[in-house]
Amino acid sequence: MERHLKWIVPVGTAALGLLFGALIFGGGGSDPHEEVMVAANPLFSGGAGGSLGSTAATGTRHEVHNGESIQAAVTAASAGDVIAVYPGTYHETVYIDKSSITMTGVIREGKYPTLDGEKKLNDAFLYSGDNITIENFKIINYKGNGVMGQAGNNFVIRNNLIHDAGVYGIFPEFGKNGLVEHNVLSGIEDAAIYIGMSDNVDVRHNKVYDSVAGIEIENSRHALVEGNYAYNNTGGILVFITPGLPIKTTYDVIVRNNFVLNNNHENFGAPGSIVSGIPAGTGMLIMAADDVVIENNIIAGNDNAGLIVTDISSVTNVASDPESEPNPDRVRILENVMFSNGNNPIGELKALMLTQLETKGPDIVDTGAGSDKCVMNGARYRSFGLGSYRVCRADEFSTASIVSMTLSEPAEPFVIAADTQEGYERIVGERAYYGVCTGCHAYGVRLIGPPITEIQAIYEDNPEALADYIADPVKVRENFPEMPPQDYLSEETRLAVAKYILTTTNTDKR
Ligand code: HEC
Repeated sequence: MERHLKWIVPVGTAALGLLFGALIFGGGGSDPHEEVMVAANPLFSGGAGGSLGSTAATGTRHEVHNGESIQAAVTAASAGDVIAVYPGTYHETVYIDKSSITMTGVIREGKYPTLDGEKKLNDAFLYSGDNITIENFKIINYKGNGVMGQAGNNFVIRNNLIHDAGVYGIFPEFGKNGLVEHNVLSGIEDAAIYIGMSDNVDVRHNKVYDSVAGIEIENSRHALVEGNYAYNNTGGILVFITPGLPIKTTYDVIVRNNFVLNNNHENFGAPGSIVSGIPAGTGMLIMAADDVVIENNIIAGNDNAGLIVTDISSVTNVASDPESEPNPDRVRILENVMFSNGNNPIGELKALMLTQLETKGPDIVDTGAGSDKCVMNGARYRSFGLGSYRVCRADEFSTASIVSMTLSEPAEPFVIAADTQEGYERIVGERAYYGVCTGCHAYGVRLIGPPITEIQAIYEDNPEALADYIADPVKVRENFPEMPPQDYLSEETRLAVAKYILTTTNTDKR
């Protein structure tokens, strides 16, 4: 008789008590150990990261010890390899431009391998391959990003300690199917965890504090933000659309079981950046995103407001991106605990509350735009602007059946297929634009860097000059930060992205 027993055991080095994979024993009556294999369990796609999370690797293990170069090990590695980095201090930027590499820190007696940028280096890890895992590192004193993903699918970023790492702490940009969990981040000038233009991502059990934005879900779809602790940021958890990016929507997001406490940090975002407009004291912000569920969170002590639901006009002119629908639709506010919010409202909210002869800000404020929104037990909250909300229906009461937004099968790797040299170049350029430049540039809108429209006006039909600039940028604008060099991109890619940028429009193709 054939018999398959399946049960779940932890595999992987950073399991932290969670269950990531399965042992599958097969064979009728024979010694079950004969056919032991470790595999991601397709039946257990939820809660464990689905196709992600198992660190069962097939390739060579490379060891990096204090005084050696992590980059040298990456350069020597091939798909399937594990790079084990031992405790020590490493002053480098690690570029991972190949796929299926596991970067694993070896933690001994509480000592982490530490990447220290000494406030001179921009980035600690930049990856552009698929199936990349980065775990168990301490990352400090960088100027740009702690970990940035540039169009890589199937990523796992977990159990890292990231402090004072620049503009973004963990920033997968334009990736599909990812897990960001058990990281601790602080002192980040923009977003500690920034999920940008990505799909099918779980952000779980992270601690984010002393940053401008704790967790951002931006122009991304199918995201689960669960079990995180966001405190003492300017804004705790933000789900929104940034206008002018090539992906035009944010929808299907569950924000569940989080602690969002005392996010009253003074805003120290780069002047002119979108986050620099977040009022201090904002617990959660839902801006222009659709189908967002807010469930079972504890939101307290946020001095401006606990939860703000608003349209895009709260950061920018609605007309700045006619391709983005500016309103938050179908937002569901389920069971949550909110108290002691709004003790010191500022800016527009303060003015709004004064029109109601109130000096306190609310637990929940909705500025009125959008349709078909609902709230459960709305009378529990001090709220403003929920007049158009209906009571959530029984079939909308819980998201418990959804355990993960990640895919049960890995996302397909990115393949460049084109009939002509020109077509090929266009795809390379587009991928670099989506995966790299849109972290700081948008069409017609200022982000960290100037709008693409302004760049088009300057460089018009001189892509070569643009390509030269990004390899070695010089300071041009007084009121902007410096642009970090993009010289790790190949010359071919730099020219391709320059040509792409000079001809792109604001239209979404996806
Ligand atoms: C980390 C943020 C960041 C990233 C990523 C970034 N830029 Fe920039 N970029 C900036 C900033 C900030 C400026 C303004 C610099 C200044 O005026 O001194 C800028 C300016 C520029 C300019 C204007 C130069 C001029 O002559 O005025 C160009 C062109 C440009 N970036 C292209 C790119 C391209 C192409 C990419 C992607 C490969 C890219 N940038 C990625 C931040 C960034």
